[in-house]
Amino acid sequence: MKLCHIDHLPDGASRGFDPHQVGQDTVLVVRQGARLFAYRDACPHHDTPMAWRKDAYLDGTGQHIVCAAHGAQFEITTGLCTLGPCLGESLTPVPLLIHHNGEVHLASNNILETPT
Ligand code: FES
Repeated sequence: MKLCHIDHLPDGASRGFDPHQVGQDTVLVVRQGARLFAYRDACPHHDTPMAWRKDAYLDGTGQHIVCAAHGAQFEITTGLCTLGPCLGESLTPVPLLIHHNGEVHLASNNILETPT
């Protein structure tokens, strides 16, 4: 399932996607150079969406993913919460595939299912 072209993910920026068209973004992607990090757009604290406005998932420094609700901070590369009410918990990774033509796809269509 295609999300976008990598050229539409600026280096250092974050972006939300609604691949299953549920009416809100359910996947967040952060680009760092040639690497993409994707997670479910659901905070482990209350399982709520994380952006404070469309595509705004990072703190002011761009060094952490931050939850708008209560300010939890997460490492971009691991999804680990390093500050806030869900300290030690992690965002749920979403595997991506980057095709040779630059298209970014979900590796699985089941990203809305909570792992058991
Ligand atoms: S819901 Fe994210 S920090 Fe509380």
